Amino acid sequence: MTKHCFIKTYGCQMNDRDSEIIEQLLAQIGYITVADMNDADLVVLNTCSIRAKAEQKVYSLLGQLRPNKERNPKMRIVVAGCVAQQEGNKLIRKMPHVDIVVGTQQVYRIPELLEAIERGESKRGLALDLSSDFEIPPYQQFAPVVSPTPVNKSTEPQIKKFVTIMQGCNNYCSYCVVPATRGREISRPVRDILEEVQLLISKGVKEVTLLGQNVNSYGKTNQVAEEPVDFAGLLRQVAALEGLKRLRFTTSNPKDLSEELMRCFAELDVLCPHFHLPVQSGSNRVLKLMNRKYTVESYLEKVDTLRSYRPDIALATDIIVGHPGETDEDFEETMELLEKVRFHGSFSFKYSDRPGTRSSEFSDKIDEKVKSTRLARFQKRQDEIGLERNQEFVGTVVEVMVEKVENGDGRGRNPTNHLVHFPANDTLRPGDFVSVAVEHAGKHSLRGIIKK
Ligand code: 5AD
Ligand code: SF4
Repeated sequence: MTKHCFIKTYGCQMNDRDSEIIEQLLAQIGYITVADMNDADLVVLNTCSIRAKAEQKVYSLLGQLRPNKERNPKMRIVVAGCVAQQEGNKLIRKMPHVDIVVGTQQVYRIPELLEAIERGESKRGLALDLSSDFEIPPYQQFAPVVSPTPVNKSTEPQIKKFVTIMQGCNNYCSYCVVPATRGREISRPVRDILEEVQLLISKGVKEVTLLGQNVNSYGKTNQVAEEPVDFAGLLRQVAALEGLKRLRFTTSNPKDLSEELMRCFAELDVLCPHFHLPVQSGSNRVLKLMNRKYTVESYLEKVDTLRSYRPDIALATDIIVGHPGETDEDFEETMELLEKVRFHGSFSFKYSDRPGTRSSEFSDKIDEKVKSTRLARFQKRQDEIGLERNQEFVGTVVEVMVEKVENGDGRGRNPTNHLVHFPANDTLRPGDFVSVAVEHAGKHSLRGIIKK
């Protein structure tokens, strides 16, 4: 009998990639993914705890699952990811309908824990080990699946893929829960990464995004090759792989952004001119409280250098408003930074207290209302700037990698990762490249016509 699983993913791209791995592991023991949670014999929640809200969503879905489990006691519920890591013991105690809880390094054990329950050897499963000696298993054990496959029922070939190059984070930004949930930095061996990317290319993948919490410190904490290789070195090796059309990466801490890496933007053709460089605040005082280890001035200097190497580079950032101790003046400095850099886009958040972090122990917390007002002001101005940035594309020709053609409407992304729409016929396939003359810019996308 076919078994059905439903996987719900919260949070970052690391979690998206982990969910793919979970899907592949489950396929190996006979599960097919379904789109409706109510049709599933197995529900996996791959969770995020970066802000309180993300965590609340998990508890709310677990609440909804309780009646499902009462109706069908054979149904299994697995909680994975950052909430699992952080709350593991509590979850198992307080949520009797949860069968398995696995931490961020233990996703690979889901099949084994499930089968132990099915065979009656155990009632529930709990695996929370998080160690700096952990070795990310070689990719062959969960070889990337590129559809069409029974796992991913889409009939379109997948042309964009994530490749994890490192896990964990050693930075200890005061507000951040990630070092606790993802552990110490561990880099994957260079050869493993190159082989994985090569395999993806051979299956038709055109664009690869290298993933890590702080890719700039790739290779710093453990041996990744016979000769030391840093992130810029890794980028160069991946970029040299025959057949790769586009290369991106995320995420970086500005403090570790080396000249050598910035130079890659000038020298590597396949490296897309799009850089997510989270600044978090425009106030040096707040950056210090956040333990970010760079200043506004050094950030701006790096922005200038990046733009000198690659004038068309689109910069995106993350901002936290209302960190404990943030005054009106500090916030005004964040608004000033926004005017100075004119980011193409940003993700902005209200500060949220996370268990075990240093910031959660600071006394001068900011009122929720003040945080909301600051966030709304920031977002309004960023939206205006984002639109103005998009308008700069009008009258230019951009190269678009086609992602979908449907009812005469084609869409895809340009190198700066902007969504581009254009009239197209079905002879165009995902993964084809077209030149589009941009005629119109909206808040979220560009529109134009294919240039012959
Ligand atoms: N509160 C609000 N935002 C946070 N982020 C990380 N921790 C917190 C927190 N405690 C934001 C940062 C980070 C992004 C992934 O989430 O901006 O870059
Ligand atoms: Fe969320 Fe951070 Fe964990 Fe990603 S690493 S799932 S963003 S808490």
